[in-house]
Amino acid sequence: MSIALVILAAGKGTRMNSDLPKVLHPIAQAPMLEHAMAAGRALAPERTIIVAGHGSDEVRMAVAGIDEEAEVVLQEEQLGTAHAVDQARGALDGFEGDVVVLYGDTPFVSAETLERMIDARQRADLVVLGFEAADPGRYGRLVMEGDSLERIVEFKDAGEAERAISFCNSGLMAGKSSAMFDLIAKVGNKNASGEYYLTDLVELARREDMKVTAVSCDEAETLGVNSRAELAQADALFQARARSELMELGVTLMAPETVYLAFDTHIGRDTVIEPNVVFGPGVTVESGALIRAFSHLEGCHVSRGAKVGPYARLRPGAELAENTHIGNFVEIKNAEIAEGAKVNHLSYIGDATVGEAANIGAGTITCNYDGVMKHRTEIGARAFIGSNTMLVAPVRIGNEAMTATGAVVTKNVEDGDLAIARAEQTNKPGRARKLMDMLRAKKARLQKGAM
Ligand code: UD1
Ligand code: CA
Repeated sequence: MSIALVILAAGKGTRMNSDLPKVLHPIAQAPMLEHAMAAGRALAPERTIIVAGHGSDEVRMAVAGIDEEAEVVLQEEQLGTAHAVDQARGALDGFEGDVVVLYGDTPFVSAETLERMIDARQRADLVVLGFEAADPGRYGRLVMEGDSLERIVEFKDAGEAERAISFCNSGLMAGKSSAMFDLIAKVGNKNASGEYYLTDLVELARREDMKVTAVSCDEAETLGVNSRAELAQADALFQARARSELMELGVTLMAPETVYLAFDTHIGRDTVIEPNVVFGPGVTVESGALIRAFSHLEGCHVSRGAKVGPYARLRPGAELAENTHIGNFVEIKNAEIAEGAKVNHLSYIGDATVGEAANIGAGTITCNYDGVMKHRTEIGARAFIGSNTMLVAPVRIGNEAMTATGAVVTKNVEDGDLAIARAEQTNKPGRARKLMDMLRAKKARLQKGAM
């Protein structure tokens, strides 16, 4: 059976108090909509339709960056969840398969749960995802008779007996496309909110003697985000899960709760992550690496056996080969560091290649930016860059070449050569003492004058 996902993402998210559309607020540094789309991808959907409204231009742009094949339809006015799904009617005209409705602000539904919904579709025309709520609050209530879901009552419209039900509506629903759109056409808005409720499909389907059932999942999966506080909770939940998964995969996290992961962080077995490390998007760390405390990594690749930090910053395009060492207060950006090379202290290496087993002295800077354009620095294999060398790019340092401490290197250095580029030292005998005596005498005169 082919599947079309319809992901509702038109709501304003008033309680976020934000200019950014709610579904674009990030969890683990990916828009929550991306999490919802990723969850839906487990069903190998043939079509993915996002219903956008508030901030639809931004949503459209974000969606294009996530999945080129996903389509965005516009819900100009937010008249309710049934009205929202109805906006996909045109796009799905002629589609024969199942529609699965997801919410863009409910990012954590699991693949397993979605598969159980699809399984239940074998036995029923319409399947709703429910959960036992610890605090049912304002959720819609599922009215069951045995296995049969008879209707969903929104909190606002519920009587006392219905409000006592704790089996609640997650909002997710699956059914045959044609049947769902036929039912949606019959939904009215005579209710406490004056909205077209998707939940009304249940009672309408039952009236036509269709089979409707509910599948139950853990409440954590249905966690919706409506406020910044809930966004933080969702992030915390993501982090907790991602950390356990990594540990399960054989990664040591010395203080798991202090390691901040991104949605796509990959870390290999037997790698050790010290406390307080932050992973931005796009990081892969291979096996047996050591990421020391207070390091910040994004868009980079760390190979087997590499040591990074403490206090290192790896920015996009940092490629560390095996057994490299990147030490404290070192920033690497868009640079390949070849096997066994060391950049151990206080350096900036950007737009560069560093050859195998090269040693980059403390305080080295690749001066890559002339104020307008970026230029590359090439450092050869086994080169030795003296402390506090300024490498003014574009520049090449040959294999086994050296630069003297404090050099400002503006010209290429050939293989095996030594570059010295600094003012020559002159010593003035006794001049230091004389100078100090002079200054002290001056200070004494000034103090006397002030009295
Ligand atoms: C909805 C359900 C309720 C369920 C709850 C779970 C209905 C009528 N009620 O209520 O039973 O317990 O979700 O969280 O379906 N949206 C649009 N366009 C609209 C309206 C909503 O895209 O016109 C989107 C929202 O952005 C959101 C989702 O649909 O992602 C749910 O809408 P929301 O208004 O939060 O529904 P609830 O009142 O919470
Ligand atoms: Ca909601």
